[in-house]
Amino acid sequence: MPIRADLILANRAYLDHEAPRWADSPSPAGSGGLLAAVRPIIEPWDGSKGTTWIGAGLGRYDREWTDERGFELIETNRGPVRHRRLYFGSSTWAAHYGEVSNSFLWPLVHLVREDLPKVTGYYPAPAAPTDGDWASYVAVNTAFAEAAADEAAAANAWVHDYQLTLVPRMLRERGFRGRIGFFLHTPFPSLEVAQPYLAGAAGRYFGEVIRGMLGADLVGLQSLHDLARFVAAATRLPGVTLERGGVRFDGRFVRCSAYPVGIDVDDVLSVATSAGPPDRIRAAREAGLPLVVGLERGDFTKGIPERLRAMTTAYRAGARFAYVGIAAPTREGVRAYEALDAAIEREATRAQEAAFAAGCPFANVRANVGWRDVVALQREADVVFTSSLADGQNLVPLQAAIAQSVRPARERGVIITGRDAGVASAYAGFELDGLATVDPLDEGQMVHTLTEALEARPGRISERFIGEVRSRDALAWATRFLTDLEDAC
Ligand code: F6P
Repeated sequence: MPIRADLILANRAYLDHEAPRWADSPSPAGSGGLLAAVRPIIEPWDGSKGTTWIGAGLGRYDREWTDERGFELIETNRGPVRHRRLYFGSSTWAAHYGEVSNSFLWPLVHLVREDLPKVTGYYPAPAAPTDGDWASYVAVNTAFAEAAADEAAAANAWVHDYQLTLVPRMLRERGFRGRIGFFLHTPFPSLEVAQPYLAGAAGRYFGEVIRGMLGADLVGLQSLHDLARFVAAATRLPGVTLERGGVRFDGRFVRCSAYPVGIDVDDVLSVATSAGPPDRIRAAREAGLPLVVGLERGDFTKGIPERLRAMTTAYRAGARFAYVGIAAPTREGVRAYEALDAAIEREATRAQEAAFAAGCPFANVRANVGWRDVVALQREADVVFTSSLADGQNLVPLQAAIAQSVRPARERGVIITGRDAGVASAYAGFELDGLATVDPLDEGQMVHTLTEALEARPGRISERFIGEVRSRDALAWATRFLTDLEDAC
């Protein structure tokens, strides 16, 4: 029997209803790394069993689609998904999402190697939440735990990500009888680097985050580095001791392990074989120049200003290439993101001037691009240039490898990834197979790596790399996690 997640708890719903019921135009499924990874293991609801997804109700028309407890069946091409939405007041949500999750935890968890707020000038210092903001984070996590506890017949609950760290412990306290798994999609920070931001209440709250995660039977992290940092931080807390394969807390063994996330390979492949070339690359093709593509959420963790700066230097040094950079708007209105736009704008203007002087097409835009264009851009690129300062995994390089697999091997390009993205450690040893690794804080290295990649050095995307991405896909990832969860108690 296939292993199934009975309950999936994620901050985001499977989709947000942005159209009224009468309009009869179903909203498309949401996007984002978490959904892409988890979607392949959703079991259709057969009336009594299957997967139930629990997420926040953020869509404009959600209430029209759900019953009074927030339930609905969402029709998908894999069958119906049983779905429950939880509704929150705007101030509770603003504090949970805008303040604690994304102005405190998000910048904090990415501090894996360097005091990024100090070295970049735009990366926000993790902002210690007020007691009131923290109370909202607790309230949202409590609502999720209560909704899961209502599902008494569930054999397991899989809780996802930094917005819901308190849920595993809360769920256990509510007497949930199934197994509880928690997976962190982001990096886990180095305590030494994060220390300056953990004075006073911030440190107490961070301790609660770790204790909350330890309510699970299995805690999954993206990389072995994240795992080591998590265990090091957890065992600093009173009452947590190290054991083989995990830690002991509250008289229970908590298994802790690394599960680098994968992608839905078939989905990328079917789009890569059918989508036409996107309009955005026309100028590059007309100029007959190699195409460099940057694609991501416009987040301060993605190293976008660093990439633009390196490109300016490369153009000035004589490199010739076209650039299409697309940053999807994200977390708009969250104050931690305020300085990023100006930094991107400044560096993009410089890069554009340098490109213009070199006679090269250059476009750096902030836009939502449809999935078909995303995959088509990844397929068409000669260099897919990502440069995360830190990243849980970063699925773009994995998607790009599959998108490029439809090209003849000798025409494929090169993918560049930041050294502190999970993908760099999960695919260490693939440097000659089309996955080049850079330190985004080392401009000289960035310029050199880009220049080499434009010549397809040290190697194009290979069958070996593509084969690995295929075999470590989202389904394999989820199956491994759920199998270990079943064995965890
Ligand atoms: O782990 C990062 C993450 O929460 C992903 O799950 C998600 O795809 C992305 O960030 C976008 O997040 P948000 O829900 O804040 O738009």
